[in-house]
Amino acid sequence: MELRDKHIVLGLTGGIACYKSAELCRLLIKQGASVQVVMSAAAERFITPLTMQALSNRPVYTSQWDERQPNSMAHINLGRDADAVLIAPCSADFMSRLAHGAADDLLSLLCLARPAHRVGLLLAPAMNREMWAHPATQRNAAQLQRDGAQVLGVGSGEQACGETGDGRMLEPQDLLCELIAFFQPKRLAGQRVLVTAGPTYEAIDPVRGITNLSSGKMGFAIARAAREAGAEVTLVAGPVALSTPRGVTRVDVRSAREMHVAAMAHAAQASLFIATAAVADWRPAHSAEHKIKKNGSGIAPQLQFVENPDILATLAHSDWAKSGSLLCVGFAAESEDLLANAQAKRLRKGVPLLVGNIGPATFGQDDNALLLVRADGVQEFARAPKLELARRLVEVCATMLGAGAPGVAA
Ligand code: C5P
Repeated sequence: MELRDKHIVLGLTGGIACYKSAELCRLLIKQGASVQVVMSAAAERFITPLTMQALSNRPVYTSQWDERQPNSMAHINLGRDADAVLIAPCSADFMSRLAHGAADDLLSLLCLARPAHRVGLLLAPAMNREMWAHPATQRNAAQLQRDGAQVLGVGSGEQACGETGDGRMLEPQDLLCELIAFFQPKRLAGQRVLVTAGPTYEAIDPVRGITNLSSGKMGFAIARAAREAGAEVTLVAGPVALSTPRGVTRVDVRSAREMHVAAMAHAAQASLFIATAAVADWRPAHSAEHKIKKNGSGIAPQLQFVENPDILATLAHSDWAKSGSLLCVGFAAESEDLLANAQAKRLRKGVPLLVGNIGPATFGQDDNALLLVRADGVQEFARAPKLELARRLVEVCATMLGAGAPGVAA
């Protein structure tokens, strides 16, 4: 219920993507929001107000002359009650009219009349690729951003007109994520965050290898939370079956050495490094070129191991960390004596913050419990969904970085 107690005005303008807004409306309501749908005349050509009324469980507004409001001022009242106005789909025409401050139908009036300092405006453009690429549209998008609206960008792919390119409306699930992110405090605005996540895989031969049970869920949740908090996030991921959090740059790797190379390449730009990956400590000294087969002798092959680079320790002792430009945070997956092990690991790795958790109780789970160990004390986060814990951890990191005061961005 990420949108509990939020009231959203969902504005539809003319575009074939209106059919996706029905699904979006359902998703918003499933997350606890109340949704007031407002449709332009063009939107009514693509989907009926009846459909949107049934899904939102509220009468839809379409006209500034609507007399259902006691004061006959739907354009004022609807915006005053909202926590955010989301226009999806937002047509090229509507962007143009908004950019010029048009106020000749209910939706444009409402956008103009909303108290902009507390009611955010998010736009999900949807149009043909040439229309999207046109300098006039790009100019309008830039102007709208300058005016404080959040232009959410577009998807790429096959378009209703048969052409392929940029301009599709983002999928309802992506729009939901953007709206949830919008309401998160921007504690990491201007920061660049590097996260490692998941297991590594160390090949023995072309078909076998050594890995572990890390699902990557905690690291992916942290990457999402950091992005929601306004950071630019790079997520270096071992082999996991998880989708990339929206807005996060993902670099896929397999082995510890690949993860090390990728992390080092991105660390120079980062101000915060959170190492959640369960990196294999050892790898086979040689990976066989061909599959190692049984030869009938009954003698098992002998594997030699060499140590992998310790990514966290390397970065924690780097000049970036020493000069104070990179804050390093480690994780410890333990099976017992969490406090003592986490304290010892914090000192061994040389990090200001080490987060302990119990491996068997977190691997693959959607929730977790954390123990934050710092030089000045210990803080416990009780069992909760990983995303919730990730958001709290991000807050702690933001405080450590001294990164701005809490608040909701425009
Ligand atoms: O030593 P251990 O593997 O228990 O340390 C765990 C922490 O160190 C985690 O943050 C993990 O991501 C990081 N680590 C690393 N490179 C390694 C081993 C661990 O970055 N080779």
